[in-house]
Amino acid sequence: KRPAGAPDRALARKVTKVGVVGAGLMASQLALLFLRRIEVPVVLTDVDQARVDKGVGWVHGELDKLAGKGRLSPDALNRLKGLVSGSLEKSAFADADLVIEAVFEELSVKQQVFAEVEAVVSAECVLATNTSALSITDMAADLQHPERVVGMHFFNPVAVLPLLEVVRAAETDDATLATAFAVGKALKKSCVLVADAPAFVVNRLLTRFLGEVTAAVDAGTPVEVAERALDPLGLPMTPFELLSLVGPPVALHVAERMHEAFPDRFAVGEGLRRMVELRKASVFSEPGVVDPDLAAVFQGGSG
Ligand code: 3HC
Repeated sequence: KRPAGAPDRALARKVTKVGVVGAGLMASQLALLFLRRIEVPVVLTDVDQARVDKGVGWVHGELDKLAGKGRLSPDALNRLKGLVSGSLEKSAFADADLVIEAVFEELSVKQQVFAEVEAVVSAECVLATNTSALSITDMAADLQHPERVVGMHFFNPVAVLPLLEVVRAAETDDATLATAFAVGKALKKSCVLVADAPAFVVNRLLTRFLGEVTAAVDAGTPVEVAERALDPLGLPMTPFELLSLVGPPVALHVAERMHEAFPDRFAVGEGLRRMVELRKASVFSEPGVVDPDLAAVFQGGSG
């Protein structure tokens, strides 16, 4: 059944090569998903060779782990490894049909990325963004072909969480939207069409949820009490585990966007800011690694 609001799937363009801008936490997970589910060449780019190598190395390592668990045959392992490559040049995307960006959450950075990509790809190549909270309409505004820009918002861990928010920006055309839905389906995600509103749907709710939990701690409730109080909800992770998984800088970024958009309804908690500051000082482990000490640090600074 076609998801609500999705255009006729006959309009979808074929995707035979994918470009991923960024080689960080989300970008590498996206590259792995495209490889595993649609088995097309995937090129990762980033700002320096070390990042590119790290991203490609991570993908190779995950493929090795899957093979080790017997989930990939030796043939498939070699084939998929051969399909992923890294480059410092956007020109590597020249023959891509879909380029998805997952770079730093700053509008001007993403606009610049799309402008550079547009200079090398065909007029039909779909430009997708995995932004957590930024306006996709703004991201597309200065492009020659804003109609090929669409939001494809995945959730961490990308391999496991089934949802994909497909975001239609002001000028997104039906062929682009149909391609995003077709790709989402091929990736075995449950796609929903959401409006290009601040933080879309999931992050809007998540920001409220995490914001209220961290506000309770800012107000003096011990972390373990705030976490235990949520036990009856049967959540798969505690709020602080979730913050650790998402990464405090991303959570702060989304909270700030929500505060800008709805200052009377969304505040940015001091505890969250403190977490990000502490992370800058390398207190925390890598983003995406659940850090058991995160809650303790949060509370420790709250006095
Ligand atoms: N990467 C890949 N696979 C993973 C994984 C990871 N990081 N973590 C767990 N898995 C896999 C396991 O290998 C296992 O697979 P299998 O059943 O095939 O062996 C499966 O997931 C279940 O894992 P576990 O049994 O170890 O653990 P859980 O049952 O506790 O589930 C979880 C782990 C799925 C991560 C669960 O805790 C969960 O759903 N947590 C909530 C995550 C969430 O809400 N994410 C959204 C964040 S918001 C976001 O990303 C948007 C951004 O814009 C901010």
